[in-house]
Amino acid sequence: MEKLLVQGGTSLQGRVKISGSKNAALAILPGAILAGGKVKLDNLPDITDVHILLRILEDLGVSVRRRGRNQVELNSSRLRKGHTPSPELVKKIRASYYLMGSLLARFGRAEVPIPGGCDLGPRPIDQHLKGFAALGARINTEHGLVKLEAERLRGARIYLDVVSVGATVNLMLAAVAAEGTTILENVAKEPEIVDLANYLNAIGASVRGAGTDVIRIEGVSSFKGAEHCIIPDRIEAGTFMLAAAATGGDVVVEEVIPKHLEAVTAKLVEAGAQVTVEPEKIRVQAKGPLSPVDLKTFPYPGFPTDLQPLGMILLTAASGTSIVTENVFDGRFAHVPELKKMGARIKVEGRTAVVEGGTQLTGAPVTVPDLRAGAALLVAGLMARGETIINGMELINRGYENIDQKLTALGAQLKRLRERSYIGLPRFVG
Ligand code: UD1
Repeated sequence: MEKLLVQGGTSLQGRVKISGSKNAALAILPGAILAGGKVKLDNLPDITDVHILLRILEDLGVSVRRRGRNQVELNSSRLRKGHTPSPELVKKIRASYYLMGSLLARFGRAEVPIPGGCDLGPRPIDQHLKGFAALGARINTEHGLVKLEAERLRGARIYLDVVSVGATVNLMLAAVAAEGTTILENVAKEPEIVDLANYLNAIGASVRGAGTDVIRIEGVSSFKGAEHCIIPDRIEAGTFMLAAAATGGDVVVEEVIPKHLEAVTAKLVEAGAQVTVEPEKIRVQAKGPLSPVDLKTFPYPGFPTDLQPLGMILLTAASGTSIVTENVFDGRFAHVPELKKMGARIKVEGRTAVVEGGTQLTGAPVTVPDLRAGAALLVAGLMARGETIINGMELINRGYENIDQKLTALGAQLKRLRERSYIGLPRFVG
């Protein structure tokens, strides 16, 4: 396990450049399988989840050429039917299930092990499978594999019972190659879905309505290469915004799309922080004591579930009681027991957490349970009195490019306790 020592009592100050979106990259990379030619992606985040997905694609036969830290060229023209992604790699990241949609679209066949990813409680894929079946795929799940087959995918009207980012992405990837029209209803409206639609249209698909509840896709029979620049990571930006206010700091997040962060901005203002929005920049300044606020997570444009642990950290600094309600995932409170080790007063009942703010956190050894919870613990370490040891930095590195360097540039005092040198992949990715 990689360890980081955090010296507490820092107030973050300065500017930070936000990297490309993890979740957009993870949806778009499997889309390279569809394009017949060369796909050039810019603003690709340099994070472990992307490294793993690139390894999976390479393993399948996609040519992957890194062009600098944040650019890649992919070519799937020599990919042949019959490849199955490596179970060992697939199990390391949840987004590997997007290979179901993209391989099915390209070859009429996909065999993908049930994916891994962050443990955020039960994460069923029934809506993905229901959609594939509606598009005409035969589905067989046995021995930990999902097998999908269709001589011809046919467009269909599909209503998602649950608003799911993953199901929306997977069904878009499959439906672009189906014969006729597909109408996806009650879909996710996240900016990452819009980014995927823009990428798919760039390679020759016809996707309309992304960003609304209904996506209409006219299937096409061939695709082409294209260039695409991935949108900024609104979750990384939100992490720094919440961290700025929680540490009593003053931070400008740069190269962001402020519209994607309206829910976070609104909560920060409600809690008493000063937020100044400029084109592609947001400045967050702590001004006096923070007020308690109630925070409820919802699909976009609601407050993102991925920022709920960071929002909770902010509320430990507010003077009074706040209620946090997690509406997207069951059991996404794995950070709470760790925060309690640092003196936080939080009580969880079902999907609700009651946060008694105003306690000075104290440094402690903590273990990262999942990616975003890990980021929250890191920020808690900055707010705490004394030293905090974060065990499991490799989970944080799954989704944050250079987080320790970015925080250090903002004044954080951090020290890697044991730098693991590994070739290729970390041993443990949750
Ligand atoms: C994606 C994001 C993750 C984010 C989440 C919600 C990626 C790689 N991950 O995860 O960072 O926290 O969206 O914004 O983009 N559900 C079902 N059946 C299904 C699919 C989902 O019941 O077939 C449920 C889930 O259990 C969950 C809810 O729907 O309660 C939302 O999940 P979903 O939007 O699918 O999340 P992911 O795509 O896994």
